[in-house]
Amino acid sequence: MRLPVNSPRRSWRCSVLAVLLLPLLAEGAQPAALRPGQLWRDVARNPINAHGGGVIFHQGLYYWYGTHKIEGLSEKTHADGGVHLYASRDLVAWHDQGMVLRLDGDENQDLTHECNFDRPKVVYHDASRQFVLYFKLYLRGHGTRVGFVGVATSASPSGPFIYRHKFLGGNSPEGTGDFAMFKDDNGDLYHLTVRKPDKAFVIGKMREDYLLPADRYVVCAGVPEKTEAPAVIKREGRYWMLASGSTGWAPNAARSFSATSLVGPWTDHGNPCAGVNPHNGLGPELTYGGQSTYIFKVEGASDAWIACFDINKPDHPYDSLHVWLPISFDGGRMAIPWRDQ
Ligand code: DGJ
Repeated sequence: MRLPVNSPRRSWRCSVLAVLLLPLLAEGAQPAALRPGQLWRDVARNPINAHGGGVIFHQGLYYWYGTHKIEGLSEKTHADGGVHLYASRDLVAWHDQGMVLRLDGDENQDLTHECNFDRPKVVYHDASRQFVLYFKLYLRGHGTRVGFVGVATSASPSGPFIYRHKFLGGNSPEGTGDFAMFKDDNGDLYHLTVRKPDKAFVIGKMREDYLLPADRYVVCAGVPEKTEAPAVIKREGRYWMLASGSTGWAPNAARSFSATSLVGPWTDHGNPCAGVNPHNGLGPELTYGGQSTYIFKVEGASDAWIACFDINKPDHPYDSLHVWLPISFDGGRMAIPWRDQ
């Protein structure tokens, strides 16, 4: 169902509904909130099926794009179905906007069943007013030795996205793995990623049209090899990166870095996590059972950022969970302590 626009009639009905629900709240039901590590449902009460994704804000709405996992399949049997979109005004009530890209091509095409599709991210290209979608792509039947970046575009944040092409990043014939697309203040876009096969962490600038890399990639000084799952932001003139180590779908300890230039040198601030996820008993050593995927800014707040992690379930990816937590930047480092809500 599409996100409904408020009308006076609906607001009136909502008020009545709220009054009717008040006794329920008094009985102990909790008001709406995000509860990290628990199953998140959309407003229709269906599990949110968006994994390894990212969130953008456009004209009053947050858009959350993630990989749709096919129920009943495992990562070994290829569970990826495409990109599923949810929209929200408040980051708590998420409305299912449907699939905006499907892996439904025939077997001669890149986007076909049993390809490996991961970590979709969307960036707005100001000049063309296009929304550009990037994702990790391993071709059907070719294993995971060669990692492509797939590119799709749409004139609307709600899609549908049209697949344009794929490219091999990192100036490597084996391409790249996990990545972040970082758009700087002047509109320049950068692809920060782990290169294959040496797992060096590299950066390449994208062309002005955002569709392909423009330059040679260089190693990001100070970021160790085998850094995966990067999420990059700029805050008060400084770049910050949240990332993970490299252990497949299994969790490991988070990493954080900051720098005054994207190529580095990056200063290593260590693991920003603290506390325990009570739902699985996992703490900072295993990032609460999660792996980073994105950071976004809360609109209307001066310095509020949310770090997004996935609790991956490779045997049943449909059951993967979400952990979103606020970031604080006290004492010159990034801190992402556990919170129940
Ligand atoms: C590591 C990545 O960080 C994950 O998102 C996922 O792509 C796994 N590799 C797959 O093994």
